[in-house]
Amino acid sequence: MQGASTAERPKTPQAVFDRVAPYYDALNSVLSFGMDRRWRRETVAALGLVPGARVLDVATGTGALAVEIARATSGAVPVTACDTNERMLSVARARTDPAMRSVSLVRCDAASLPFDDDSFDAATLAFAIDDMPDRAACIGEIRRVLRAGGRLALLELSQPDHGVLRTGYRAYLRVFRAIGRLGYEHLEQEILKYRGAAAIEALLAEGGFVAYQTRSLSGGIARLHTADKGRGPS
Ligand SMILES: C[S@@+](CC[C@H](N)C(=O)[O-])C[C@H]1O[C@@H](n2cnc3c(N)ncnc32)[C@H](O)[C@@H]1O
Repeated sequence: MQGASTAERPKTPQAVFDRVAPYYDALNSVLSFGMDRRWRRETVAALGLVPGARVLDVATGTGALAVEIARATSGAVPVTACDTNERMLSVARARTDPAMRSVSLVRCDAASLPFDDDSFDAATLAFAIDDMPDRAACIGEIRRVLRAGGRLALLELSQPDHGVLRTGYRAYLRVFRAIGRLGYEHLEQEILKYRGAAAIEALLAEGGFVAYQTRSLSGGIARLHTADKGRGPS
């Protein structure tokens, strides 16, 4: 595992999400060779959901993870999925309406969630923490709306654990330059400036989360981080 880096990861501008929204899922699938579906399944499994648990998917984008939670739990778990980007949400709406009645979509800023304290049993945040203008505020808000002991699963792109694979992967990342017209060229830099699991662990610990665990997925191309809301004061 690589250590923490202090380098700032470039954020994806909202204008890029506006532009890529209709192709976002297909691009994810192609660029990850279909592995993104497995990563989402692993993320849902890490929450250990029981029927009736209330889940919040923050920065849901096109709703893929929210839908995976609904599917994996056969609709027995109500999912609230939120994002600030209307175009991404409109793709999520088309995908969840009308069959996925257990998924509700809300447009809001993750730094100011319009939900009551302690109102969710679990939360997810996938491929989005470094797009947040204020990461600490986002984590603080997720903590506030989770009940004590509630779990956060955070999924992120990272870099392969082993040197040879890492070198090959860095070469592969140049493919993002080829789809620069969509505004995806910065994704190469975003992945290269990966700050390491220690940076996520520190962010979560500072935000009042405990019992941090992490594991690499697909040899380290993605990383799943989990932590629980501590039982201290909100
Ligand atoms: C790379 S996409 C990830 C989408 C989705 N979670 C997934 O797994 O594919 C990042 C998302 O974060 C959202 N986002 C960025 N800043 C946000 C904010 N302040 N509040 C809520 N969502 C935000 C973007 O609009 C975008 O949909």
